[in-house]
Amino acid sequence: MSQASVVNDVYQQPLAPIGESTRNPTRFACRVRDLQKTYVLKGETVRALRGVSFDVPEGDYVAIMGPSGSGKSTLLNLLGCLDTPSAGSLFLGDDDVAKMSDDQLAEIRSKRIGFVFQAYNLIQQLTVVENIQVPLFYQGKLGSSELKRCEELAMMVGLKGRLGHRPAQLSGGQQQRVAIARSLVNDPFFILADEPTGNLDSRTTEEILQLFKRLNDEGRTIILVTHEDEVSKRAKRVIRLKDGLLQSDVQNSYESRIAAAEHAIANLPPEIE
Ligand SMILES: Nc1ncnc2c1ncn2[C@@H]1O[C@H](COP(=O)(O)OP(=O)(O)OP(=O)(O)O)[C@@H](O)[C@H]1O
Ligand SMILES: [Mg+2]
Repeated sequence: MSQASVVNDVYQQPLAPIGESTRNPTRFACRVRDLQKTYVLKGETVRALRGVSFDVPEGDYVAIMGPSGSGKSTLLNLLGCLDTPSAGSLFLGDDDVAKMSDDQLAEIRSKRIGFVFQAYNLIQQLTVVENIQVPLFYQGKLGSSELKRCEELAMMVGLKGRLGHRPAQLSGGQQQRVAIARSLVNDPFFILADEPTGNLDSRTTEEILQLFKRLNDEGRTIILVTHEDEVSKRAKRVIRLKDGLLQSDVQNSYESRIAAAEHAIANLPPEIE
């Protein structure tokens, strides 16, 4: 384990079965027990997740790391209810995802979870504000107060002056900020991001990390997948997967997170005008 990290006592304790009374009053954004996912493609079976267990307290900020193919996106997709597990259990808050109807799952996906993808997944024909509105459009909620909220979100993520731009007229970092604003439109308490800085240069990566920090400081739980040490050092906790299993689960100290932020900012390349 690196010197910069300390193991949090919470994570050292054996995981209690969900639903069993516990002395720890912590509220959990999610609890995962022996989660498994097996894909069968053209007769070939891939055990992408082979039994993963962990708890994420509300307000946590977790980076998931691990080699390509270790199951990171599979895990994130399960946490985001975009896919269903082959075995094991997943609780979001106090709710057992396996017991939810399709309607309840759709409601959770749209209201409680904000999903950010590496490839932004913006609609090219729509403006910044219209892209942010998309989740509301699917819920049939598009009044003037919603429009105002979308404009406010665009400004919050630093896109003032770009509200009418289309994705092709924006930099990669700006497009990712639109995607983050869109993920926040329903005020989710849980933000899941799959390599959100994977396509970004160091300066825009830094901007996105500062945005995530602010969202986490506001109380939102964040789980992001990353290949970059510089990104994982900014999270409160790092979970490593290997071959579909949890390899380690380590907490970054507050001091190490501050040091990582200072180091990143001090080493930014000069701004190009
Ligand atoms: N829809 C699918 N059908 C079949 N196999 C899949 C599917 N999705 C993922 N897999 C397989 O499951 C394993 C884990 O994939 P996953 O996408 O979770 O990896 P990852 O850790 O996110 O990798 P990367 O860092 O490259 O994004 C891989 O072997 C992959 O080929
Ligand atoms: Mg992946």
